[in-house]
Amino acid sequence: QIIILDFGSQYTQLLARRIRELNVYVEVVDYQISAQEIKEFANLKGIIFSGGPASAYDATAYQIDHQIYSLNLPILGICYGMQLLAHDFNGVVSQADKQEFGKAMINITKPCLLTEQVPPNSIVWMSHADHIDQMPTSFEVIGTSNHSIALIKHKTKPFYGIQFHPEVTQSEFGLTMLSNFIFQVCQSTKDWFISDFITDAIKDIQQTVGQQHVVLGLSGGVDSSVSAALIQKAIGHQLTCVFVDHGLLRKNEADEVIGFYEKHFDMKIVKIDASEMFFKHLKGVVEPEAKRKVIGKLFIDVFMNYIEEHNQEINFLAQGTIYPDIIESSKKGHSSKTIKSHHNVGGLPKNLKLTLLEPIKDLFKDEVRQVGKQLGIDDKLINRHPFPGPGLGIRIIGEVTRAKCDLLREVDAIFIEELHKNDLYNHVSQAFATLLPVKTVGVMGDNRTYDSLVALRSVNTIDFMTAQATHLPWDFIDHVVSRIINEVDGVNRVVYDVTSKPPGTIEWE
Ligand code: XMP
Repeated sequence: QIIILDFGSQYTQLLARRIRELNVYVEVVDYQISAQEIKEFANLKGIIFSGGPASAYDATAYQIDHQIYSLNLPILGICYGMQLLAHDFNGVVSQADKQEFGKAMINITKPCLLTEQVPPNSIVWMSHADHIDQMPTSFEVIGTSNHSIALIKHKTKPFYGIQFHPEVTQSEFGLTMLSNFIFQVCQSTKDWFISDFITDAIKDIQQTVGQQHVVLGLSGGVDSSVSAALIQKAIGHQLTCVFVDHGLLRKNEADEVIGFYEKHFDMKIVKIDASEMFFKHLKGVVEPEAKRKVIGKLFIDVFMNYIEEHNQEINFLAQGTIYPDIIESSKKGHSSKTIKSHHNVGGLPKNLKLTLLEPIKDLFKDEVRQVGKQLGIDDKLINRHPFPGPGLGIRIIGEVTRAKCDLLREVDAIFIEELHKNDLYNHVSQAFATLLPVKTVGVMGDNRTYDSLVALRSVNTIDFMTAQATHLPWDFIDHVVSRIINEVDGVNRVVYDVTSKPPGTIEWE
């Protein structure tokens, strides 16, 4: 396997996914890991230093345990990672006169294992403000761009550096270089396959759980659904899924999800309709964080009540935690501001007496989808856009009521139905409608209307950390707007949100 030391690059997860796509198991670890801890990884073949926002020459820069250089393992430094290598081997890194952001042409000046099958000139994706000013004497330059040293190699050890980002598709031969490092330099073998994962996970669950019982909070999202399907395959009716309907779901959501799993997986599902209680507690709550807290807390209360009532027969709590959740929460060295307090079952009480079961915690989202597909989950469910835990609660600006939820459900359903009909749904990452606390004047027939305003949003994104508004065809938007205004009572105006993330976020609250 390979490990990536994460220095906070926005591309770290993408890099890890690219390596998994090469059928090689990779883990992302905090850059503060010690050489001793690295030695404990079984079958480790190589180390990658990710990019990051720091400057290698800055005294506060992310530094690593230098013993790592004596582990006799190949190292590939990418962007900041390359600069760190240069700095640590006594080269000089400084701020470049000309920053390079975007596409650049590189020239391979000295072919080697890393650049096998890479033509002498190719396009790459650069994103850096610092550069190597003076090469460390133990390294040599093996490639350049117009403005900087693009590729370096240690003269005697298997240490390489790449200034650009090989993991992004804009780098034409980036994947070739990455796979050269992994297969030629590190001598890794292809041994990470989804089918093996499923067989092993099922065995593992059977051994861990034995004859005991598991409860899982099913949300209808891909992660909890795939976990449920996997556990169900392993232990059948020893699994009970609890579906909490908080009244903030999309149209027909509960019935569709529960119906599918009961029918195709013979799954034991308990549906708890707690919507009355949610609307009661949401009365008068307007501030987004306050809403999130109310919804998150009630959700856990309802779920915990179920567990307490059945505690005699439950031993394990299963969660659909996936690998990006773990990477995000294990970043020790990075300070990050809470933009929104995301709600999921992660906020369970600490004194919970159940053992956690997280069967897909090593998988990325696309791997989770592959597992789901191989287990026979319907494509329509697997490819569903993400839906936030607080549901329509954060898509209704201002106070949340059942009537507003009913109205928004109708709008959302039309938008989503049309995306499906026009073969657009699978080409956008997430689409939805938001109800604004604004009424505007309109005219229908010969009559004045004074009704609600809704906003449609559709974004494309790789990792939901950054996103662009989708350029939906104008005719399509026109048609959707016309349907919404004609079919949904109480809406007389629709706007389309074209804000990117950043500066916007995907949801409005
Ligand atoms: P934002 O609005 O932060 O959303 O740009 C990024 C992604 O996260 C989803 N989201 C949530 N998911 N609980 C969730 O499970 C939450 O509280 C939550 N808030 C936002 C959002 O839908 C988007 O996919």
